[in-house]
Amino acid sequence: MASKDKRKMGMYIHVPFCIKKCGYCDFFSVPIVSSDMLERYTACAVAEIKQQRAELPDVEIATIYIGGGTPSLLTGSQLEQIIQSVQQEFMVKGDVEITIEANPATLDKTKILDIINAGVNRISLGVQSFSDDDLKVLTRIHSARKALDVIEFMHASRLKNFNIDLIYGVPGQSIDRWMESLKTAVECKPEHISTYLLQLEDNTPMGTSVASGKVFLLNEDTEYLMYNRTIDFLRENGFEHYEISNFCRPGFACRHNLIYWQAEEYIGIGPGAVSFVNRCRFVNEPLIKEYLVSIEAGRERPIKVLEKMSRADLASDAIILGLRLCQGIDLEHFKNRFNIDIIKQYGRNIAPCLERGLLECENGHLKLTKEGYFLSNEVLCRFIT
Ligand SMILES: C[S@@+](CC[C@H](N)C(=O)[O-])C[C@H]1O[C@@H](n2cnc3c(N)ncnc32)[C@H](O)[C@@H]1O
Ligand code: SF4
Repeated sequence: MASKDKRKMGMYIHVPFCIKKCGYCDFFSVPIVSSDMLERYTACAVAEIKQQRAELPDVEIATIYIGGGTPSLLTGSQLEQIIQSVQQEFMVKGDVEITIEANPATLDKTKILDIINAGVNRISLGVQSFSDDDLKVLTRIHSARKALDVIEFMHASRLKNFNIDLIYGVPGQSIDRWMESLKTAVECKPEHISTYLLQLEDNTPMGTSVASGKVFLLNEDTEYLMYNRTIDFLRENGFEHYEISNFCRPGFACRHNLIYWQAEEYIGIGPGAVSFVNRCRFVNEPLIKEYLVSIEAGRERPIKVLEKMSRADLASDAIILGLRLCQGIDLEHFKNRFNIDIIKQYGRNIAPCLERGLLECENGHLKLTKEGYFLSNEVLCRFIT
């Protein structure tokens, strides 16, 4: 089958291991206890890729995203086995974007080279902050100096594309301290910067500390100022603001995440990974032992269906995801894809958002305004079917 006839999808590979859990994080991952576990995981991920290929023979992979957890715990050889198995089993686009999420504590000069030699062409580095005070509050296992050293090694390597993840709204963080971190990030010359507002998750040590009054979150006005100054500062420094929390140098938007925001299909590999195929969203159960035992026995991994979508559900999802993108939704293109006129269908629901200046319609695109980005949840809930 010619490449143009294939169904294009992204592939997400979830590596559910970290050195130590950070106090704020609710992502599915467990502290790694032995390197044998990574060997078993790798063999099972490779086997699952084969299984999924049998289920989806006509798919071309456009992006590979190895996330976690901390996938940079895998050795170069383990990463290579996983990437090669995707390339052997599936047709893969020639210019495929292959991202790995990495914790600075797991990288040094040699490891960066191993990662690149394994086929990775984009590193997403979880820096979180360039202030050691913030890093302490976040219970990160590395210093700001370590992150800077790793970034220097990445520049000295042949890697051409890296992202820095930052978190703002950290308890005790001032606006100035946040802006200092952001300035340092820009000075590191990444192609991409993600800035996430700290999400307080109830079932985390930080959630417990806040609930018991030991730790205080910043107030919303401060968070709002931080976000607004972030947008202005990064734009002034040559970054395009292309999604609520994401900024890039021209041409360096994360292609894998664009697949999510454009409500396109993706395959998830590994325990805890979500797939979206044939309008069905399902998750590989976040159960590491059960996953390994099933795959090693040649059985299918345990999965749970999260949502079987009608075309109307998918359209509503596509609006909610698409509005996260700063370019907004091309109304004509949307009509062609879903046969839905958004303004006709949702006009009444969204009128208050248009009046309050949270949403706007410009050049045939419906989009959030700068004001609307920060209050996006208020707007997006108006499209839930
Ligand atoms: C799954 S982590 C992968 C990176 C790597 N594990 C690390 O932490 O170095 C992806 C990113 O999610 C963000 N993140 C995780 N928990 C968060 C939270 N509660 N609030 C805001 N951002 C969060 C962090 O910026 C983190 O870098
Ligand atoms: S933020 Fe990253 S390193 Fe920390 S627990 Fe979450 S996935 Fe692991």
